[in-house]
Amino acid sequence: MIPESCDLLTPNRSDIAPIQAHIEVTIDDLLASLRRPERLSPEERRGIIARYTSVLEGNFIYWMTSAYLSARSTAAHAIIQDNLLEEVRDNHPGMLRKFAIAAHAVPTDADALAVYRNLEAVRQFVSRLSSVPIVVMMAFFEGLLQRFMPYLADLAKRQGSAEFQYTDVHGECDIAHTQGLYRAIGAELPRAADVASEDLLEGVKLLRALLLNIITGRADVHQVHRP
Ligand SMILES: [Fe+2]
Repeated sequence: MIPESCDLLTPNRSDIAPIQAHIEVTIDDLLASLRRPERLSPEERRGIIARYTSVLEGNFIYWMTSAYLSARSTAAHAIIQDNLLEEVRDNHPGMLRKFAIAAHAVPTDADALAVYRNLEAVRQFVSRLSSVPIVVMMAFFEGLLQRFMPYLADLAKRQGSAEFQYTDVHGECDIAHTQGLYRAIGAELPRAADVASEDLLEGVKLLRALLLNIITGRADVHQVHRP
């Protein structure tokens, strides 16, 4: 079960352990809900890759940039800057586009529309530039992505792809990125003046809904289903 509020978990607001525990449970829950690739139709497999690409290709660096812009501590800035540098220097959006092309899963208008509402909700959240909840969301995102890569690669392979640079790179680098972002949360928490009145998990909840949308193709799925 995922607790509804971080208030239940964080008697001490400078302690990142309850946040990390919540993120890990949320990731476990999402991954456990994935239907096995061999049980999906080719169109269902294509759809997951296409919706994933539609969301990640143009938004990941933008959301990480919002974490940079909202952060106040030198430590968080340094950690997030390293992450951004790697994304830009190694052309991760281009890597993802190649992955989608090779899997015959380039996003269509319909794929973009299928995730529009939940994507817009994350964008609205990010636009508030609230440091801790955004960095918490990005730690969740990195942690999830790293563990999602073998599944994504399996979907692509079954769609006839032999292009795995994107999934190979992200299966490895995101481990260090996730740990870095937890350190960034620890650096931001004492400096965030508005932390007491904020839902630190707001971004995690919104991004979780978007990820469920990507996985299922439906915008109205809010609970994970065991396959
Ligand atoms: Fe990346």
